[in-house]
Amino acid sequence: MRIAHVTLDPTAVVAPVSRRTFGTFVEHMGRCVYTGLYEPGHPSADEDGFRADVLALTRELGVTTVRYPGGNFVSGYRWEDGIGPRDRRPHRRDLAWHSVETNEVGIDEFARWAAKADVEIMYAVNLGTRGVQEALDVHEYVNHPAGTHLAELRRANGAEKPYGIRMWCLGNELDGPWQLGHKNAEAYGQLAAATARALRAAEPGLELIACGSSGSAMPTFGAWEATVLEHTYDLVDYLSCHAYYEEYDGDLGSFLACATDMDHFVDSIVATADSIGARLRSKKKIQLSFDEWNVWYLSRFQNQPPVDEWQVGPRVIEDEYNVADAVVVGNLLISLLRHSDRVTAACQAQLVNVIAPIRAEPGGPAWRQSIFHPFARTAALARGDVLRTVVDAPGYQTDRYGEASVVDAVATHDSASGDVAVFVVNRDLAQPVELTVDLGRFGPVAWQGGASSLYDDDIRLTNTVEHPDRVVLRANRQLSVRDGSARIVLPPVSWTALRLSAGTTD
Ligand code: AHR
Repeated sequence: MRIAHVTLDPTAVVAPVSRRTFGTFVEHMGRCVYTGLYEPGHPSADEDGFRADVLALTRELGVTTVRYPGGNFVSGYRWEDGIGPRDRRPHRRDLAWHSVETNEVGIDEFARWAAKADVEIMYAVNLGTRGVQEALDVHEYVNHPAGTHLAELRRANGAEKPYGIRMWCLGNELDGPWQLGHKNAEAYGQLAAATARALRAAEPGLELIACGSSGSAMPTFGAWEATVLEHTYDLVDYLSCHAYYEEYDGDLGSFLACATDMDHFVDSIVATADSIGARLRSKKKIQLSFDEWNVWYLSRFQNQPPVDEWQVGPRVIEDEYNVADAVVVGNLLISLLRHSDRVTAACQAQLVNVIAPIRAEPGGPAWRQSIFHPFARTAALARGDVLRTVVDAPGYQTDRYGEASVVDAVATHDSASGDVAVFVVNRDLAQPVELTVDLGRFGPVAWQGGASSLYDDDIRLTNTVEHPDRVVLRANRQLSVRDGSARIVLPPVSWTALRLSAGTTD
């Protein structure tokens, strides 16, 4: 058995846990909206046509923020197509995914869904085929209280009160040549700055997110961010980051270590942003919105024949996730939490059917994919402050990401309840690890604990419509808590959440 140690210190605080770390993403893409969230004929559909089974799973997942309506889709989207009487809404070509958008769901319907799911909307405007005026128009429609043309139109359409959307994405992935209206960094920086100025003139307190690179493999990675921030530093609050990971050519060791790449990604963008801030002699710190992240078998998608074009809600990238994928997703959340001083918003992409923790069949059931479980448990247990968590563990060599630790972990501490949560992965393909968590620096505390782990002898096991609960969290009984420390055995290729509750010793 391999051995690892973590020493926790309640004064070594990175930052408070940002609830927005547990965001998600709903794009008008594939079956995320149509037959995902929305299916009027479904047995569970409510009075608005929303699937109650999907809504219940969304609540259980614990998501807090939802980015909407895209993604690549937004760069050709006309928001006003999706308002007013449904029978007059146009059907349009969606050039991003070559499908037909019926506009049955628009911002009013989505805001109703978000209220039912109790999530905050992060709204993305189209800066691909559109610009400042259209961004102002949609803002007037959703956020202006009353007395102007578009605010009154919203009220006439049934929403008396404005939606009060605070977070606004200034476009999507405009560095990517696949993006409608793709621009170079200079042109995008100017447009983002002009849009930010206009939106702030309408509502100064908005939180604005400028596009970062669409991935760290982009040739302009880093340079794009620097140029965009040269134009927008004082005008925006966030820079967006996007990253998707997959296992290449059966190289599981590298795949399991991909959170080290996310760590490096964040550190690089923080350094880039801070260098622009230093040059501008600004005390402001730009936050990161990691508003697209997940495991995505993108290379399989790219190698597949295209689905029949111009369908409504086609089956697109409905990846089925296994045990190893769930361990990686848990690890990516560890990375995001570890950077809570700078990553204060994040959205797993996407919510339903499209590379998603929730799957739903038309007319049939909805179920939890393997990746649902580490997300839901982390969202439920991460409370209070993130603690600096240094792991002493053996290392191993990966082909893709160099040297990686066999164990990766992050801890949170809620000083109000005294609870500590530790989220940890064992990346070893064959051996269990005995992890000791030293809690001595919390003083004389009588700890009680519980733990659950996600693992299986068959790391390729998935949940399916026929077998929706093959991959679940299991109670980890190999936990002992005594004398100011916790000891737990982590199975090979596993993700574990450890919850330690404090009582006092007199
Ligand atoms: O989430 C799927 C796609 O990935 C999004 O539309 C796009 O922004 C990204 O490239």
